[in-house]
Amino acid sequence: MSQKIIPKKLLLLHGPNLNLLGTREPEVYGRMTLEEVNQAAVDYAHRHHAELRAEQSNHEGALIDIIHVARNWADGIVLNAGAYTHTSVALRDAISAVKLPVVEIHLSNIHAREEFRHKSLIAPVCVGQICGFGWRGYLLAIEALLGHLGVSD
Ligand code: DQA
Repeated sequence: MSQKIIPKKLLLLHGPNLNLLGTREPEVYGRMTLEEVNQAAVDYAHRHHAELRAEQSNHEGALIDIIHVARNWADGIVLNAGAYTHTSVALRDAISAVKLPVVEIHLSNIHAREEFRHKSLIAPVCVGQICGFGWRGYLLAIEALLGHLGVSD
């Protein structure tokens, strides 16, 4: 009897200012638009038998609401929290509260930039962190999350 593979459901969540990707400091964040990054992530997830839904907000509370809702449908989250990475206890608490595995991702290498970016308040409640690899980091993060969820091919 053949076993049906149930695809994992992933949330890709982008925080503040990431809607401006493509035009925002391209020397730091690259030239891909958010739409292009999301499309690459959706395609990559499909190739790995996963479904991915992408959302973005510039508002801390809205990001928290999206994480709360994800509790009801997602198996895990890839999160670029933008500047809230360095400031938001509320976002960190939301991650702890929903108990979904979260992979933290940044386009830039936050450890090689200004000192205030070196500290991530969310890192201790995430499975791990990927940073410094530009848009490809999102694909690495999806792979890492699927591996964490026990999916390998
Ligand atoms: C970022 C790094 C953050 O420090 C910054 O505030 C961002 C983008 C990144 O993807 O490199 O908005 O998360």
